[in-house]
Amino acid sequence: MKFQKKILCIGAGYVGGPSMAMIAYKCPDYKVTVVDINDERINRWNSNELPIYEPGLDKIIKKTRGKNLFFSKDIEKQIKENDIIFVSVNTPTKTFGTGAGMAADLQYWEKTARQILENSQSSKIVIEKSTLPVKTAAAMEKILMLAKGKVKFDVLSNPEFLAEGTAVKDLENPDRVLIGSHETKSGWRARQTLVEIYARWVPQEKIITSNIWSAELSKLVANAFLAQRVSSINSISALCEKTDADISEVAKAVGMDSRVGSKFLNAGIGFGGSCFKKDILNLVYLCSYYGLQEVADYWESVVKINEYQQDRFINNILGSMFNTLAGKKICILGFAFKANTGDTRESPAIYITRKLLSEHAEVIISDPQALKNAAIDLEDVKGSVKYVQDPYRAASGCHAIAILTDWDLYRKLDFRKIFKLMVKPAFLFDGRNVIDHKKCFNIGFNVYPIGKPALSHLNIIQND
Ligand code: UDX
Ligand code: ADP
Repeated sequence: MKFQKKILCIGAGYVGGPSMAMIAYKCPDYKVTVVDINDERINRWNSNELPIYEPGLDKIIKKTRGKNLFFSKDIEKQIKENDIIFVSVNTPTKTFGTGAGMAADLQYWEKTARQILENSQSSKIVIEKSTLPVKTAAAMEKILMLAKGKVKFDVLSNPEFLAEGTAVKDLENPDRVLIGSHETKSGWRARQTLVEIYARWVPQEKIITSNIWSAELSKLVANAFLAQRVSSINSISALCEKTDADISEVAKAVGMDSRVGSKFLNAGIGFGGSCFKKDILNLVYLCSYYGLQEVADYWESVVKINEYQQDRFINNILGSMFNTLAGKKICILGFAFKANTGDTRESPAIYITRKLLSEHAEVIISDPQALKNAAIDLEDVKGSVKYVQDPYRAASGCHAIAILTDWDLYRKLDFRKIFKLMVKPAFLFDGRNVIDHKKCFNIGFNVYPIGKPALSHLNIIQND
């Protein structure tokens, strides 16, 4: 079959995999190839056990793989053969040198730019899809400008706004698609090529264009605003716990103001995921770099509140359980950073587990999708942690349960059965406010939600 367009994506991760699968699904006449330096990842994309868990993705892969969607290890050959190249390689926070702990580590990005340069025999459109600090496209262009002869590159910024767990839905029906380009003739032409791809399924009014820097900055700012909402509600949850207010009632009342909106106001143990912290720290670094210290401090406080919320949760566990966890068994329900994903990057569960271990608690972790990643995250303490998929077996013989991920299945658990299996007094710390607290209290649990008064039988005994 002769394909209308040939598209390549470098980086087969949480962004590259699903977003290219959607293009292939919506455009059967385009050939889409995804490459990665990690051979194992490519093998898994080509198998029945995909490397990431994302509801609905397997169906789309089944419909497209081998027809117009291909996963390949031959990066150089694919660069030669494709003229539209998405770059979706990882950009972790730098761990060394200037900007360590704040700025993005662009070594993978730069390597990719050089690889594109070295293997290009024709002109190409290069599209940055990973979240990157503002002006990264400029760095990429500087490398690509070294091209000799007739080969020319147009660099576009097309940040991806999908959220994990809802990636398929977000890709199929995005709030907006943003394409940034240079305001030059060739920039506009390249931009039009990309607009045409998305216009196959996204309404035209949702495809917005901007200059390249605005596109890059928009992605950082969108994530910073979302994270700020989570930190805002979490900061108020601390106040609710000190007073008689209930964070769910406050969030409902505040969110019904249409200017505020009701989404993203769930208090919990804090945000995780690969983007929020990294992007805010990028923004902080950028502001400091330009001498805007007040602005940098403002955004950094979003991350600080997130850390504070996790510490508060642990201190609450410790305080409620008579200030000692040594030798006690704690069951962690949920290790993924949010529901409907197996991803554990920056999951608050990592920090909380380590803190519990440092108090000499025994930790038993249960999660429907994230146990493999949890074991990798906790490789250095592997002797002290147990992994049990079944939540009932995981909770059996435990002194306390801590719910750390908002998996729907936790709402449906038989807590009467679980209570019987646990050591008494049994403690339940609901770090995501997912369960019926009153019901669990009536069963006999001492229940500690986020941002709501604790329901403890122990207080009643003391007060009597
Ligand atoms: C985020 C952005 O939503 C997405 O647009 C961007 O492309 C990538 O970063 P993601 O990290 O996948 O997506 O998940 P998201 O749903 O935003 O949740 C992030 C974290 O915030 C999770 O740990 C989640 O549990 C937490 N959260 C979210 C809350 O604690 N409360 C809320 O009300 C919402
Ligand atoms: P994201 O959530 O941004 O998609 P991931 O870490 O899930 O991040 O995916 C990034 C992918 O990019 C990884 O699979 C990694 O192996 C791949 N990668 C990193 N550097 C390169 C490179 N130079 N060439 C090809 N793939 C790369």
